[in-house]
Amino acid sequence: MGVSHPDIVIGRGALADEILVPRDGRTRVAILSQDTAMGMARPLGERLAATGLAVEVIALPDGEAAKTLEVAQDVYLALNRMGMTRHDSLVAVGGGSVTDLGGFVAATYLRGIEAVYCPTTLLGAVDAAIGGKTGVNVGGKNLVGVFAHPTRIVIDLEVLAALPAPLMRQGMAEVLKAGLVGDLELVALLERDGLTADLEAVVGRAGDVKVAVVRDDIREAGRRAILNYGHTIGHAVEVSAGLSHGEAVAIGMVAAGAVSKELTGFSASDRQTAIIEKLGLPTSAPALDRDEAKRLVGLDKKRDSTGVRMVLLEAIGHPVVKPVDDATIDLALDAVTAPSEHGQRETANG
Ligand SMILES: NC(=O)c1ccc[n+]([C@@H]2O[C@H](COP(=O)([O-])OP(=O)(O)OC[C@H]3O[C@@H](n4cnc5c(N)ncnc54)[C@H](O)[C@@H]3O)[C@@H](O)[C@H]2O)c1
Ligand SMILES: [Zn+2]
Repeated sequence: MGVSHPDIVIGRGALADEILVPRDGRTRVAILSQDTAMGMARPLGERLAATGLAVEVIALPDGEAAKTLEVAQDVYLALNRMGMTRHDSLVAVGGGSVTDLGGFVAATYLRGIEAVYCPTTLLGAVDAAIGGKTGVNVGGKNLVGVFAHPTRIVIDLEVLAALPAPLMRQGMAEVLKAGLVGDLELVALLERDGLTADLEAVVGRAGDVKVAVVRDDIREAGRRAILNYGHTIGHAVEVSAGLSHGEAVAIGMVAAGAVSKELTGFSASDRQTAIIEKLGLPTSAPALDRDEAKRLVGLDKKRDSTGVRMVLLEAIGHPVVKPVDDATIDLALDAVTAPSEHGQRETANG
């Protein structure tokens, strides 16, 4: 709760212990979770109950469907029934959807109760759980929320090691992004080991990049923007090509790499593409609707009077944020829709 940064506990079986920050006065714990992660939330609830706490496990609708004001209201009412006070705690066990909703509820209920996050997806562990953004979707993604930190983030490496392949790959896109903007060794690790890279190093290093970037820029005034590497084109691809966020960010990084090569002389764009391939992530979206994608990129502009800005790389670990014109956006889209030398692209006539 509040502005101080959380402890981050990373370990095998970490969900079994060290969940709660030791402190006096806590008598009730609400555990929020959903779907698959309920299998981790329930035993955790039993262990906490065995220590004498009053525990309730609250099941949320799965995935993004948890991030609504209606669900928040249902949880507030459940907390009322539990008789929660400001001394008590909320624990969110799940992916980014659960920690975003859980963090929002904890920050607003009684004007703020303690939140603890137990991210169970790789994306949740290295991205959503860190940085203090919480929120729900109201007529648009993440449009309502508050900045608030949990007191503790508990990342169980056994849980992450067992993730289904698509969730692992999607999280790896954000891990690679973190490396590209801030950690050369992390990039080298992924380049060497791909999806079999040591998870403790992957999670620790990618988390450290985000912690360092947001530490001085919690409200996204400046430097935090570098975490959007691959996201300008990525978001447009996500919406117009219907890909997962991680796949779209992978494609967005290829696009940003190509623009970087042109505008900053970035020399590692082919190396970046090879790592994305090694991670089993897509490097192009041949069937992308270009007009729709351009329209979506332009929508960003309306929220920011300075026009479309893209995060580019001068070198790995050296991001810069630059305003880009229409021709540059075309170049970015060409890089992910034009026929590639790998010959995987569909022809114009299908
Ligand atoms: N707050 C932030 O700074 C921030 C940053 C990035 C993303 N986000 C948010 O995070 C959300 C995406 O998070 P996500 O990718 O974790 O998706 P998610 O939380 O929606 O989970 C995706 C799916 O994985 C399942 N799942 C969770 N843990 C699992 C496990 N251990 N094994 C198998 N399945 C499991 C979930 O039940 C769900 O069906 C989005 O809402 C996004 O806006 C927030
Ligand atoms: Zn992202």
